[in-house]
Amino acid sequence: MHRKYWINRVNSIRPSDITPEGVWLDRRRWLAGAAVLPLAAAVARPAVAAPAPPPLAASRNARHSVDDTPTSWDDITSYNNFYEFGTDKGDPRAHAGTLHVRPWSVAVSGEIEAPGTFTLEDLLKPHPLEERIYRMRCVERWSMVIPWIGFPLGDLVKRLKPTSRAKFVAFKTLYRPREMPGQRAGWLAWPYVEGLRIDEAMHPLTLLVVGLYGRELPNQNGAPLRLVVPWKYGFKGIKSIVSIHFTERQPPTSWNLAAPDEYGFYANVNPAVDHPRWSQASERRIGASLFAATRPTLPFNGYAAEVASLYGGMDLRRWF
Ligand code: MTE
Repeated sequence: MHRKYWINRVNSIRPSDITPEGVWLDRRRWLAGAAVLPLAAAVARPAVAAPAPPPLAASRNARHSVDDTPTSWDDITSYNNFYEFGTDKGDPRAHAGTLHVRPWSVAVSGEIEAPGTFTLEDLLKPHPLEERIYRMRCVERWSMVIPWIGFPLGDLVKRLKPTSRAKFVAFKTLYRPREMPGQRAGWLAWPYVEGLRIDEAMHPLTLLVVGLYGRELPNQNGAPLRLVVPWKYGFKGIKSIVSIHFTERQPPTSWNLAAPDEYGFYANVNPAVDHPRWSQASERRIGASLFAATRPTLPFNGYAAEVASLYGGMDLRRWF
């Protein structure tokens, strides 16, 4: 474990803090099992860094990019949450190499004009890619600045022509336990699911992402297709998406199912609403020195001018 990674770890909230107790106990059982099962032991070996993914060209959208210094490639790709590959920050990089991301297809269904299944290539073809530098804030109280490559989800939604009954959009991650060892443990109900209200999905800041730092998305960051909603806690950013479903009712979401009191459906970054077990008033930028001061959490992660109007009339303490 290199030094910077260790420093990040000691200064962060551990999975035993963020995850509900039952989930944590199950993780311990998984680790114990990994010691005796040859297959699990094989996937639990230390990381062999995968080669960098192929380059991916996209021009910068300056209007939608923040000026903060981007977090390093190394930190963005080695300090991850992707519980399908384990619950430690280094697990996704160590184990996500087993995931096959080609061929890939995405099912679109529910309240839209023509439900069906797209290959990834057909889904992406009409959409020009752009680079946007966004802040990312995890509910665990750390943050990064990430140069994503993608396109507005709203452009895809328009193309799919939702009916008037489409009030929410539900997303699902791939379920493939043979390649995703964490899915053989029960710390979340698999597959990982997330959702947005339709106006949140249509907001110009909401991105479908296929790359970062001028390269295709590394597996550990959610290849080949993930969601990024920069004003919400990172857990809304569902990875490795295989299904987009339009619905009249608010869909279930993985973290809300695991701990309803701790992780709400809206999950807007809000310094005034504490997690039941820790304050959300400040955050730590990954890559900053251990001695650097924490920084104040910004309402809506600094995107309030663009998104606060989505929540007019809602009590954001109640509708966390
Ligand atoms: N998507 C899936 N399928 N599984 C996960 O465990 N973790 C979420 C989110 N998307 C997660 C996921 C959480 S808690 C965060 S903070 C972000 O992914 C982390 O994204 P990153 O690893 O690219 O920084």
